[in-house]
Amino acid sequence: MEPEPLLHTARTCIRLAGVADAPKLWRYRVENRAHLAPWEPLRDEAFYTVEHAAKTIADGAEAARQDRGYPCLVLDRDETTILATFTLANVVRGPLQACHLGYGVAAQAQGQGLMYEALQAGLAWAFGELGLHRVMANHLPRNERSARLLARLGFEREGYAKRYLQIAGVWEDHVLTALIRPEAL
Ligand SMILES: CC(C)(COP(=O)(O)OP(=O)(O)OC[C@H]1O[C@@H](n2cnc3c(N)ncnc32)[C@H](O)[C@@H]1OP(=O)(O)O)[C@@H](O)C(=O)NCCC(=O)NCCS
Repeated sequence: MEPEPLLHTARTCIRLAGVADAPKLWRYRVENRAHLAPWEPLRDEAFYTVEHAAKTIADGAEAARQDRGYPCLVLDRDETTILATFTLANVVRGPLQACHLGYGVAAQAQGQGLMYEALQAGLAWAFGELGLHRVMANHLPRNERSARLLARLGFEREGYAKRYLQIAGVWEDHVLTALIRPEAL
């Protein structure tokens, strides 16, 4: 069974992944390997198997059940193809109420405003239903597309962390940004 959609936007359906999505996630990873690899941690060959996709989905469902993280699929309205993914990760409750945001769009779906459309809805959900107060997103200084997307969503630069994350095998500096829950909510 696939989970119920969390959100609909004009062009997408956003939901957590279910076991039946493993072949779709596998295809997304294989088709977008060269597109995503420069911006992600090193992956071994096992990552590009349907078994690994199934394990990721099971781990993600458990994370969501425990309110630790919410890995979301952004599908077309028919729910046949994964257009993008985003994750609200490292959820911290208590007086912080924060998480880290990670995202990526399929090479074929890039440059159409789809990531923006999905994240606008995803962030409203994070600040609304999930009750979060702060969403943090960090990007490589040279990732101009990501910087533009975050600025359009209202994220503000908060700092610069040296050798912050290991991306494609290299400890890379990152620009730190965050979006705070709007006062009106
Ligand atoms: C970062 C990433 C998600 C940005 O994707 P994107 O498609 O550029 O982002 P958006 O959804 O905001 O789309 C904006 C683009 O769509 C265009 N666009 C077309 N139709 C549009 C519409 N209806 N609405 C808004 N924008 C539209 C905009 O002009 C803009 O293109 P431009 O930057 O060439 O001017 C994507 O480049 C990616 O997946 N990169 C690899 C993974 C990655 O870097 N992840 C983030 C790590 S920090």
